[in-house]
This record gives sequence, C-alpha cells and structure tokens, in this order.
Amino acid sequence: MSELCQSTSIVIFGASGDLTWRKLIPALYNNFKKGRLSECANVVGFARRPYSEDAFRARLREGVAQFSPETFDPALWEQFAPRIHYFQGNLDQAEDFPRLEAFLRRLEDGPANRLYYLATAPEYYAAVAGHLGAAGMSRDDEVYGAWRRIIVEKPFGHDLQSARELTHALHAAFDERQIYRIDHYLGKETSQNILFFRFANTIFEPVWNRRYVSNVQITVAESVDIGTRAGYYDTSGVLRDMFQNHLLQLLALVAMEPPASFEADAVRNETVKVLKSIRPISLEDTVRAQYEGYRETEGTAPNSQTPTYAALKLFIDNWRWQGVPFYLRSGKALRRKISEIIIEFQRPPHLMFRLPPGADFSPNLLALTIQPDEGIHLRFQAKVPDSDQDMRPVDMDFHYRDSFNDRSIPEAYERLLLEALDGDASLFTRSDGIEASWMLIDPLLEGWQTPAAPPLVTYPRGTWGPPEADALLARAGHRWRLGRE
Ligand code: BG6
Repeated sequence: MSELCQSTSIVIFGASGDLTWRKLIPALYNNFKKGRLSECANVVGFARRPYSEDAFRARLREGVAQFSPETFDPALWEQFAPRIHYFQGNLDQAEDFPRLEAFLRRLEDGPANRLYYLATAPEYYAAVAGHLGAAGMSRDDEVYGAWRRIIVEKPFGHDLQSARELTHALHAAFDERQIYRIDHYLGKETSQNILFFRFANTIFEPVWNRRYVSNVQITVAESVDIGTRAGYYDTSGVLRDMFQNHLLQLLALVAMEPPASFEADAVRNETVKVLKSIRPISLEDTVRAQYEGYRETEGTAPNSQTPTYAALKLFIDNWRWQGVPFYLRSGKALRRKISEIIIEFQRPPHLMFRLPPGADFSPNLLALTIQPDEGIHLRFQAKVPDSDQDMRPVDMDFHYRDSFNDRSIPEAYERLLLEALDGDASLFTRSDGIEASWMLIDPLLEGWQTPAAPPLVTYPRGTWGPPEADALLARAGHRWRLGRE
C-alpha cells in the first residue's frame, strides 16, 4: 500500500451510458485536473459491451472534449486515461461480481476503498446492490479501515411504496450511512449557497418568516422539450421528474430551520423536518399541463395524460411559515431555461407616497438565481431623480461571474463525487427525506387520476405555461415573478 494514500476504486455500473460519458468522467477528469482526485484512485467502468480498454478510454476522451471543452487538455488526458479501466460484465448475473472483485483486487494496491456508482437504469439498482452484498463487496473493511460506499441516481422509486422497496433492497447490502443518493440540484453551487446566504449573514434571517414574507416562488423552467426521452418521461411526468426531488429540495433549503452544524445529519434532519411540516397539498391548488405537440413525440402514448408542466401551491405548518403560500412551478418547452427562487416581501403597512394612477406597487423581491446567470438580486424602491415623489423599483445585484471571475462554477457532479469520496453526505438525500417527499407527491399522482383532478390543459411551446398557473396565484392577489423582469 502506498504510504501517501489508500487505493480507491470508483466503480461505475452502466459505464457505457450517457451519464458516464456526459457527466461522470468529465467531473472526475476536472477533479483530477484540479489535483483533487487522490493519486491512488482508479476508475473502473462496468458494462456489457465488449470494449477494449483503449476503445473505452477513447470514447470517454470524446465525452470530456465535447462536454467540458474549456478544461479539456489532450496532454493532461493522457495522464488521466491510465487510471480508467474497463470490466465487461452483466448487471443481472451474480457470477460476474466475484469476477469483478478479483479484477479490482488485481488493480488495487492492498486494502482499498470502493465507491460504487449506480449509473444504470433504475430497474437494476436492487439487483446490483444485492449482487455486491452476496459477493461480500458491500461491507466496510474494518480491519484495514477501507470503506465501501454506493451512489444511487434518481429516480428513487416511482412512488412511496417502490421507494420503500428500493431502500429495503439497498439496506440488505449497505447501511444507510454508506448510501449516497444524488440529487444533482444539491450539488449546484448556487443551491449550496442558499444555506450560506441565510446562515452566514445576519441581515436576512430576521425577516425570513411570515411576518415579512408575503409568498415564496420556486421556478425551474426548461426551454428544451423531452427530446428522445419519451420512453422514460411518458411514464414519469413532471411531478416525479422534477418536483419529488429538485423542487422539494430547493424548498427545503429555503424554508428549513437553521441546522446546529454543517454536519450531514444536522442538515438532513432539518430537511426532513420541514418536508414533514408541509400540509397535504389540495388538488385545487394544482395545475397540470402538457405542451402542444407532446403526443406527437415518438414513444409517447397517443392519448398520453402525462403532464410536462405543473404548478402547485403549498403551505408549511410551522411557526415560521404559517399562512405563507409557497408556489412551485416547473415545465419543459417553456420560454427559457431558468431556475430561480423568489422571496416576495410584504408591502409596507402604510404607503405615504403617491403612486401614479393605475401603477402597480412593486414589493421588495429577493431573487436567488440558481441558473443561468447565477446570482442574487434584491429589488427595492428608489425615488426617481428630479421628480416630486415618483418611485421605481431598482436592483442590487450580485453575479457570481463578476465577484468570483477567477473561478468558473463547477458542474454539480464534480462536487458531489468529491463529497462522496470524502464521506460527507450533507448534499445527499437520506431515505426518510425521500419518503417524506413521496408522501407529498403520491396523493397528487393518485388524485390526478380521479374526477377531482384539475383538467389537463395544454400550453404553446415557448410560453411560461398555461393561464391556469397565473390564476392559481391571482386567487391570493399574487403573480409569478422572476428577478430580472
Ligand atoms: C433531471 C431531469 O433530473 O434534471 C431532467 O430528469 C431535467 O428532465 C434535468 O432536464 C434538469 O437539470 P438541470 O441541471 O439542467 O436544470
């Protein structure tokens, strides 16, 4: 064993798939480039195709050149490539796992850490975990202090029951502390910054509650449509694809109570606590919609009822948020890509300035822009110079690109892989958090199959969604807002 570091094998199951090519290898390469990948780490791709090691490396090289062109350096790739190995195996064949074990042992320099990455189709998760367990590959090597961890990609089930079954299957081989469930939204720098913004400053937290906040809005809009993913998407829909995970995680970061420390369980306890405080969502407070032309996509059912857009209104039953509506919306084929959280503050209790006739008073807005043009904007009223008492909303802006121009914002997977290698699970979801979010989403999925469901409406591509979503907010005198509009 090297004196400087312990061997670590990063084993990617499903290594010939898109995720490995587009995200995982570019992320590992960038960590290597930044000197953050241990010298003793190897990457082993496990897949069925008969790749030679050279052919496998060549394909991954293309992926890095294509998906991380600004950091790709052919000379550096030559240093990184020898760390990559290929193992041909079948995910559902138990006998391939002892073979994998022998392969890994030959590569490893003595007792080694193992990070298993499930980048496969979800139907293989339970089988792979089971085979790893059966082959004796899942338990930490306590004698030599070598760990075993497993990273699981979403979807974590397609409802509460299947999520529980998956947890059960994983727990048969791995302890919860060994399991790292990825929600790539938690790996985004700007999502992580929400906790810093709230809890490393003193001036925002005192107004972060029902006394000052009128409503909170979370928009995760995409301009792309479902592309070639109909096979997955048509049976999934926007609630499973985006709300159960990304939107609820963002909501938890915005709404949670301050954790006592930045330790994984301290943060995740608060996440679960706030998710469990969300009142069951009323079907009347939901909008479901499908973009026009969706059913013409190859692979969708001719009469598909799958929503590609949803908007929800929900309430958090605790002291901080009682009565404050949280509006969530997400959809495909919308006007532009933006993920943003808006905190809309209450109006001043009494306005002593005259508003021009018909003018709409614009309340203070705080926009946390997750992507693109990552930043934070605070809108407030200012007196128009050389006027009697005219006012106009103006912005105080923070842009990452201006304040941290020497550092580009890394891809979420870079951070997440590092954290998993370091054994820090604060950016990963815990099984009780997964269950808590399914408990909110399941009744909607079921309710949307009943006569009490809101009608499935359509919206033209390139818009902000159906008018029903505007009406949802208008009922309480609110409207959707974006920070820079
Ligand atoms: C994924 C969804 O989890 O997130 C996709 O499955 C979606 O449908 C994607 O496009 C959005 O991620 P990002 O990082 O581009 O906002």
